[in-house]
Amino acid sequence: MNPSLQGYFQAAKAVWEGLPPVTRFGALDQHTLKTYLPQLQRWEDPIINGFYDTLFSHPATRSVFREGERAMREQVLRHWYRRTITGPFNLEYFAWQILVGQVHQTRGISKGQVMVMWGWLTEQIWQLSHISLPIDEADQLTMAWMRLANSIKAMAADERLEAYLQSLEQQSGANPRILQSAAVSWLEEQSKGSNRS
Ligand code: HEM
Repeated sequence: MNPSLQGYFQAAKAVWEGLPPVTRFGALDQHTLKTYLPQLQRWEDPIINGFYDTLFSHPATRSVFREGERAMREQVLRHWYRRTITGPFNLEYFAWQILVGQVHQTRGISKGQVMVMWGWLTEQIWQLSHISLPIDEADQLTMAWMRLANSIKAMAADERLEAYLQSLEQQSGANPRILQSAAVSWLEEQSKGSNRS
């Protein structure tokens, strides 16, 4: 594996290990997402459309996007959502989420803007699950989603991780954007392999 890519894995592992296990996304949560996969799949369209309707309805978030970019962004988020609801939730997945965070930073999107969209996603899961499932099952699904969201947000919020990745990029001399693209492609290939096994 590319030594810089290895660094992303180590960084994800370090953040993960610093989180108390009860707060992290765990085996029971994985099982819950698997149980309600048919529902999560049905909610894909309202979630993807609503996500971008929200970002495009506010000037400060609308201004981030280039002319004609929305269709491509929706397609990428759709891919991300499908991978997120099906798992597997391994170190590769979490390292990929760190890279996604870096991509946002490169585009000048604030952590605050990303965090509130995590909140928005969680509200949608809460609402949709409470409309279509018995209350205890809806609560269980929402809690599993929240622990997933919290685990990813914890990585995105970690300042030491950012400093570490920056120094890694400086030392390797790699262009961060090229490194990110290569890493995302590599991780996606790995995920396809894991899904097949
Ligand atoms: C829950 C929060 C969010 C998630 C899960 C998410 C997910 C993603 C993913 C998976 C990518 C593709 C990364 C890659 O492989 O290159 C991406 C890129 C992007 N996202 Fe987000 N996003 C979130 C929040 C936001 C927000 C708040 C904005 C704008 C205000 C935004 C705008 C963009 C843009 C412009 C790109 C393209 C970056 C580039 O390639 O230059 N995203 N996002």
